[in-house]
Amino acid sequence: MKVLSVVGARPQFVKLAPIAREFEKQRIEHIIVHTGQHYDPMLSDVFFKDLGIADPDVHLGVGSGGHGEQTGKMLIGLEPVFERYQPDWVLVYGDTNSTVAAALAAVKLHLPLAHLEAGLRSFNRRMPEEHNRVLTDHAADLLLAPTKVAAAHLQTEGLTKRTEVVGDVMTDVVLQVRDQVRNAPSPIMTEFGFSEGAYRLATIHRPDNTDDPGRLNAILDSLAGLDVPTVILAHPRLVAKCEQHGIALGREGLLAHRPLAYPELVAATLHACGIVTDSGGLQKEAFLLRTPCTTVRPETEWVETVELGWNQLVEPGAALVAAARRPMPAPTDATPYGDGHAAANVVKALAEHFK
Ligand code: UD1
Repeated sequence: MKVLSVVGARPQFVKLAPIAREFEKQRIEHIIVHTGQHYDPMLSDVFFKDLGIADPDVHLGVGSGGHGEQTGKMLIGLEPVFERYQPDWVLVYGDTNSTVAAALAAVKLHLPLAHLEAGLRSFNRRMPEEHNRVLTDHAADLLLAPTKVAAAHLQTEGLTKRTEVVGDVMTDVVLQVRDQVRNAPSPIMTEFGFSEGAYRLATIHRPDNTDDPGRLNAILDSLAGLDVPTVILAHPRLVAKCEQHGIALGREGLLAHRPLAYPELVAATLHACGIVTDSGGLQKEAFLLRTPCTTVRPETEWVETVELGWNQLVEPGAALVAAARRPMPAPTDATPYGDGHAAANVVKALAEHFK
């Protein structure tokens, strides 16, 4: 069996790590194609290095652009690569423009397509990710769902026959990295001189939160007005939008910091008293590390984090401040995202469905 993975953006490198390791362990031929959607070393190269992923076999170097331009360049670049390698499976991850481009390129060439993290839904059609995941699920031959909730969404859309619940590969990575870093102080603590739990960590990058200057400023003001300092990890989109709107990112109570490498992020989350974010991945990482999360969005795909009391959805302003300062939630040993062996389940499902 020959599997070709297509990745391009930061969260996909995290999901690729346990999958690549499992293919290696089982001596399955695996080709890695990087679209180049994320090209800053701190959003790309450090993830390959820190998580022990082999360098990509092909790098398309597509870079930034509007949705049409970026996705179109990927389609043009991927087709000859797929034709050259003729994989038994094209494996795509999550919900980015790289995911939908690879899905389209694969089905047009009649190559079997598997979608990892299938069935997630925000039901918010303003999000580019929602279109990307719906289109990819309906194109794919094998839907690798991380949770029962995701499988239920696929059932509603008539896709049960193609669905396998495999667990969440992010759990595999987070738990491994947590065990590597748990006894060391996080570099964020060392750098700012924070003691355990004396800071919050924030990330904000979604277009709905960054593109409107009033909303972005309100979010940053809320983060600056909490009881302990907030460190905001500045994604390039956030930096660019602050510059464009003439908004100062750092301010009293809010410390701007470059994006972190993955082990640093896990350590910084583990030792923070709370997370404030609009990232999908970080909501789940916070839950897995049992750090309370506050999400600046009207909805989430990861509903289990909210149902179990470890995540609250808020608007900027008083609601954000109150939620971020809420007491520690009740402990839980629930495992809605699997037991850390999802990658093995993925490889098994690919092998079973391989014709
Ligand atoms: C993308 C994904 C999003 C995911 C996020 C993780 C889509 C539609 N969105 O959003 O789902 O949560 O990645 O980070 O695929 N930029 C840089 N350097 C880089 C990458 C981007 O400066 O290495 C800048 C670009 O110039 C652009 C902005 O950041 O202005 C947005 O980048 P883009 O890849 O389009 O989307 P993200 O917001 O990163």
